[in-house]
Amino acid sequence: MATDVSGRVRAVSLRQVLAGSSRGGPFALIDRLSRQSRGEIIRLGLGPFRPFLVSHPEHLAHVLRGGEENYPRGAAMWKALGRLTGDGIAGQGPRWLASRDILRSALSAKYLHENGEQIAASVAAGVEDLERRLSGDRPVDAGVEMTRMVYRVINPAFFGSRFPQHDCERLGAAIAAALSSLVWRMALPGVPHAVPLPGDRAFRRANRTVDDLLHPVIGAARRGSRDGRDLITALLNGAGADGEPLSDDHVSDDIVALFVAGAQSSSLTLQWLWVVLSEHPEVAGRLREEADEVLGQGPPRPEHARRLTYTQMVLSEVMRVYSMAWAVARVAVADDVIDGVEIPAGSTVVLSPYLTHRLPDVWQRPLEFMPERFAKERVRGRHPLAYLPFGAGRHQCVGQAFVMHEVTLIVACLMNRFEVRALNRPRPRLGMMLEPDRPVGLKLTPRRPRATG
Ligand code: HEM
Repeated sequence: MATDVSGRVRAVSLRQVLAGSSRGGPFALIDRLSRQSRGEIIRLGLGPFRPFLVSHPEHLAHVLRGGEENYPRGAAMWKALGRLTGDGIAGQGPRWLASRDILRSALSAKYLHENGEQIAASVAAGVEDLERRLSGDRPVDAGVEMTRMVYRVINPAFFGSRFPQHDCERLGAAIAAALSSLVWRMALPGVPHAVPLPGDRAFRRANRTVDDLLHPVIGAARRGSRDGRDLITALLNGAGADGEPLSDDHVSDDIVALFVAGAQSSSLTLQWLWVVLSEHPEVAGRLREEADEVLGQGPPRPEHARRLTYTQMVLSEVMRVYSMAWAVARVAVADDVIDGVEIPAGSTVVLSPYLTHRLPDVWQRPLEFMPERFAKERVRGRHPLAYLPFGAGRHQCVGQAFVMHEVTLIVACLMNRFEVRALNRPRPRLGMMLEPDRPVGLKLTPRRPRATG
């Protein structure tokens, strides 16, 4: 593909994007671009929309660590998303700060320590439930089952014991439906809300379901004892920017944002893991050995997560190769210069962990799956922004420790109980997150008879 280098920005025209996309899809194009650009800033010409793609760790540091004031959220993606997630934790400014402080402390290491038993019990219950529902040789849909497993853990963590599991799953489905119906609003940010677009009606319907499910739970929690360790309680006990308690709407927005940020990304990480393991049986073998050694034949325990070091390395490598949040958008408030490249005020700057994780100057043989990259001694000395599946800077993921703990136990427990094999090899598809382009079928064969009673 011909590219045009002007100064230190690599310009890629719409014609080149379209030609590149037809050869292997948008992700093949992005991969090619990242290899060719070696971390140079790329300016995509998508008609009137001309975002900068930024991937070099030093450039990321400029935006996320040095110049955060100049690069708030505010790109089209965030504006459309705001219709669903409001302007608390998913926004910026004082309301975001209040939510961020509450959630950061609610999900701190202390939280994992105090809720470890419950998380481990939820994982065990999820795996038991899956085993009970297996029917002979019939494969299961990894998307459905991993999402269900994630909701098992999220439900008590977010809601305490207030929400039946079935309602939690309905809420998750409604939020996912609302999110996908926003695609047109994201693609056409200039269209006023008064002008109808496809997806609007589905969005309103899904949003009503979200309100109908969530508001009664929030109301009951407000009237209840307020001494739980769940996130609704933390939000209700916290104070807003004005020092007053958060309103029901603010709490509801934050819970929806937590679902958007946390549920699908965790499920997708697990789905890609099974795909990768089918391609790397030697990694699967080592994972199984570790799971057997740490869990034995018993249920997962909170203290197991820390000992499952190889499992954590494998998960870190899955999140490098398949970075779920593949692009994170910001908007430049004032004119800026990044490493000699002029960024005019108002420009959208797309930070792409996906690209950063594949830069050949930063990662040796970046396209190969090598969990050993995350051995302790090899992590030292790496640029702090070479690896950012959870973002960086002021908006860095508040659920990072929670999700690593949760998925580590889920993987170990599943490996301990089943031979797991993915039946197909999907490719990544452009979506809000890095999704497989078709459902991943999983064959789960129990490794020993199920304990009953
Ligand atoms: C594999 C799973 C996950 C991935 C890959 C992931 C990734 C990310 C990334 C890249 C960001 C930064 C967005 C930005 O810079 O604008 C982020 C923010 C966030 N994540 Fe996660 N996340 C995951 C799981 C979770 C979970 C389980 C929770 C909640 C329990 C969560 C809660 C949040 C919240 C609330 C924010 C916004 C923080 C802020 O703006 O201050 N995430 N996440």
